[in-house]
Amino acid sequence: MNIILMGPPGAGKGTQAERLVNKYGLTQISTGDLFRKALREQTKFGVIAKYFMQFGHLVPDDYTIEMVREYLKENTFENGFILDGFPRTIVQARELESIAKEFDFTIDAIINLDIPVEKLITRLSGRRTCKNCGATFHVEFNPPKVEGICDKCGGALYQREDESEEAVKIRLDTYNKQTRPLIDYYTMKGSIININGDQPMEDVFKDIEKSLEGK
Ligand code: AP5
Ligand code: ZN
Repeated sequence: MNIILMGPPGAGKGTQAERLVNKYGLTQISTGDLFRKALREQTKFGVIAKYFMQFGHLVPDDYTIEMVREYLKENTFENGFILDGFPRTIVQARELESIAKEFDFTIDAIINLDIPVEKLITRLSGRRTCKNCGATFHVEFNPPKVEGICDKCGGALYQREDESEEAVKIRLDTYNKQTRPLIDYYTMKGSIININGDQPMEDVFKDIEKSLEGK
């Protein structure tokens, strides 16, 4: 089963992807995580992405598509994958369709997490990420047992560079202009599943599980 997981910044894509990985054995492909890894390793994609990411802009389509294409080509996915944060533009969506034809896979579900903007700001400003393993927490909704320390690996927690007030504003604006139109694109194709993302994490996941029955 291959899934696209969509939603604005902070909607809970990473949080729900982790649950989908655990339940269905899928592989998470987060373009944000891939760019952050490339940045740490100073690869070609990292150097390009740094400038766009730190200010909350999208990385240009051609680099993003090239990175995803390479990743899909070089890896095998026993039980399928979750595309978390890709596609984010109509160009990326169309390109994904031709990559799917070329590599002979199908997308079985497109899940859109729906949530009001005010909630996103609270979620993003309270998020803490583990420097070591990438696990995410929230100071209010999912606090670590010890403040500033990751429950899973004991690593230090930090706030992402793109979580400043200014960067968050740009990310939300970018989402509205460039990514929101994808909802109409997939709705017209009759293939989107809208999930209420404004509920406790476990309830969001229950709704996702229900929507995937029989897929
Ligand atoms: P990316 O890393 O994809 O960031 P994002 O889409 O902005 O999403 P986030 O990771 O911020 O949020 P999320 O939806 O995963 O929420 P989470 O589960 O963490 O992208 C970063 C950058 O990379 C982009 O700005 C762009 O520059 C570049 N990029 C990436 N993909 C690209 C592409 N395709 N094209 C071009 N550029 C690209 O949850 C957030 C917080 O809320 C957490 O603290 C969590 O604990 C909490 N939370 C989650 N669910 C709930 C709930 N139900 N109730 C209460 N709290 C909750
Ligand atoms: Zn950790």
